[in-house]
Amino acid sequence: MLQFNDVDSLRAWRATHPQVAFVPTMGNLHAGHLSLVALAQAHAPQVLVSLFVNPLQFGPNEDFARYPRTLDADLALLHTAGVSAVFIPEVTALYPTEPTCFIEPSFLADELCGQHRPGHFRGVCTVVMKLFHLAQPTVACFGKKDYQQLTLIRRMSEEFLMPIQILGGETERAADGLALSSRNQYLSLTERGIAPQLYANLQTIARHLNHGHRDYIELETAASKALNHAGWQVDYVSIRERDLRLPAQTSQQFVVLAAAKLGNTRLIDNVEAG
Ligand code: PAF
Repeated sequence: MLQFNDVDSLRAWRATHPQVAFVPTMGNLHAGHLSLVALAQAHAPQVLVSLFVNPLQFGPNEDFARYPRTLDADLALLHTAGVSAVFIPEVTALYPTEPTCFIEPSFLADELCGQHRPGHFRGVCTVVMKLFHLAQPTVACFGKKDYQQLTLIRRMSEEFLMPIQILGGETERAADGLALSSRNQYLSLTERGIAPQLYANLQTIARHLNHGHRDYIELETAASKALNHAGWQVDYVSIRERDLRLPAQTSQQFVVLAAAKLGNTRLIDNVEAG
């Protein structure tokens, strides 16, 4: 497995490998990331993974400083998974000067998570655009757990006419349903016991939708109330069309998304319905 820290060596490698599937990550890898690696391996002979905690996508009071950094363990996992190359840039490699140019995603970036994390998706899209320029992948894989991120990146690469196939990998879950996330390790034992409720409430909404229930506000409010009552601080529970537009009464296909905090830990999840 090759390792690159600088932009030039990544570019030189890329120049000799015509078909690359790319998995951008912030490290602290778990089974969710490894399933994206497997998806990437099914789509191209070379798989590149990036490990980079992107400061631009964290707000001033968010967890950039304490975000778990586990480089040795990550490299061991990627090596065992048979990844071809890993890109591990320093912040200065991707942001050589104070940034003045950004990708400004659509109004969709100000809704849902964007409403609670101003500038987050601008930071995500900007770094992903930089990584796409460097890696020039034929395929790029993102987890469906970050459904809004996946939707915005898909739209960005379509609108910028980038010849990259964007693939969404299914969410990996613990046995009790909790979506795997690096942030799960912030949870106390008690919080970890409560955490599967997020998915359970989304599944309840999905069941109602599948049975033809169409009072979206009632379903969202009931789930928010149940979660708040159990000790969560809910940011949102939202029923959307699969492309994240607000649903109509005649809609048949949905994604139900939620974000909520347990103590200081903010978790997100979603399920598709219909
Ligand atoms: O999903 C993530 O891990 C990050 O948002 C990404 C896509 C690697 C950009 O920093």
